[in-house]
Amino acid sequence: MEKIYRDADVDMSVLNGKTVAVIGYGIQGKAQAMNARDSGCKVIIGTRPPEESPSRAAAKADGFESMSIADATKQADVLLIELADPAQPPIYKAEIAPNLSAGKTLCFCHGFNVLYGAIQPPKNVNVVLYVPNAPGHFVREKYKKGEGIYGCISVDHDATGNAKEIVLAIAKAVGSCRAGVVEMTFQHECEGDNFEEQILYGGAIHLMKMCFQTMVDNGYPPSFAYAKAIRSLRSVIDVMDEVGIEEYVSRRCSRTAEFAIRTRGPRVINEEAIREIFRETERGQFARDWMQEWALGMPMLTRLRRTAAEGEMEKTGEQWRKEFGK
Ligand SMILES: NC(=O)c1ccc[n+]([C@@H]2O[C@H](COP(=O)([O-])OP(=O)(O)OC[C@H]3O[C@@H](n4cnc5c(N)ncnc54)[C@H](OP(=O)(O)O)[C@@H]3O)[C@@H](O)[C@H]2O)c1
Repeated sequence: MEKIYRDADVDMSVLNGKTVAVIGYGIQGKAQAMNARDSGCKVIIGTRPPEESPSRAAAKADGFESMSIADATKQADVLLIELADPAQPPIYKAEIAPNLSAGKTLCFCHGFNVLYGAIQPPKNVNVVLYVPNAPGHFVREKYKKGEGIYGCISVDHDATGNAKEIVLAIAKAVGSCRAGVVEMTFQHECEGDNFEEQILYGGAIHLMKMCFQTMVDNGYPPSFAYAKAIRSLRSVIDVMDEVGIEEYVSRRCSRTAEFAIRTRGPRVINEEAIREIFRETERGQFARDWMQEWALGMPMLTRLRRTAAEGEMEKTGEQWRKEFGK
């Protein structure tokens, strides 16, 4: 069994007298900054200029000292890089790299840019990773309740000899050691995350769409098709998360549902496609396609968004939530 780091295993004194700069005040940045501050860390915020981003004002309104990314880098001992992944390389090159000095720690929240070499930090700084396994608002909400989100840490380069202690202290400050933190590689964090997004989010969303469309094409009322395709999944996922898949399938759903799940479910899944996507992800093909798409101004996503927003399922969903509640 892997080592699980909990609050009692981690000494936060390694951050005493240190300044933590959160770079980027978006979904993760805001949550991690607030949690770390509430845990007693000295936190400052680095954002793009106010004319490019509302983040500077948002951070100030939340009571943080906020400044340019270059100034935050100069003042910080530990930098939490919480910028959108494709935005990181140019900002790193222009504002962070020139202001780094020996012994600072760069802490990423996704391994992408380091793994694929878009960011290549100097050897005199620590390069670490801390990722809570949830969107920012959950990270904050759980923390406020005295709980935390399972997370992972990684050390890609240890310049100071205590990089692991530093990143564990950050994970504890944000609240993850309340739930448990495990150590892994940048590669597994990054490719595992990219694989999950393609298979689980991509697969589940397209399954829901196909479920809806097939019913509607065969004359079912759209509200019924929508409830089946989306709403019924919500409660089921929570139960499976709480008690496990087998308990749900064997005892908590109907016997008809159990028969349907066990005999028809595997037919819906294209196992070869899943394995092929895993291989593509390991070969860096997903990363290359995504970096190219971003560099071109996201033409494919712009086009796909337009078609998807105009679809019948989205219109039904809008009406459905008004009629039957959220
Ligand atoms: N979203 C999640 O729940 C989640 C979960 C796990 C890990 N992560 C990781 O956390 C990191 C931050 O992700 P996020 O979801 O928090 O990002 P985000 O909210 O989408 O964006 C974070 C910040 O990136 C900057 N930014 C966004 N778009 C930009 C653009 N087009 N050009 C230049 N800068 C741009 C902005 O900085 P300013 O504040 O300066 O305006 C923004 O506040 C990423 O490494 C991500 O993989 C996210």
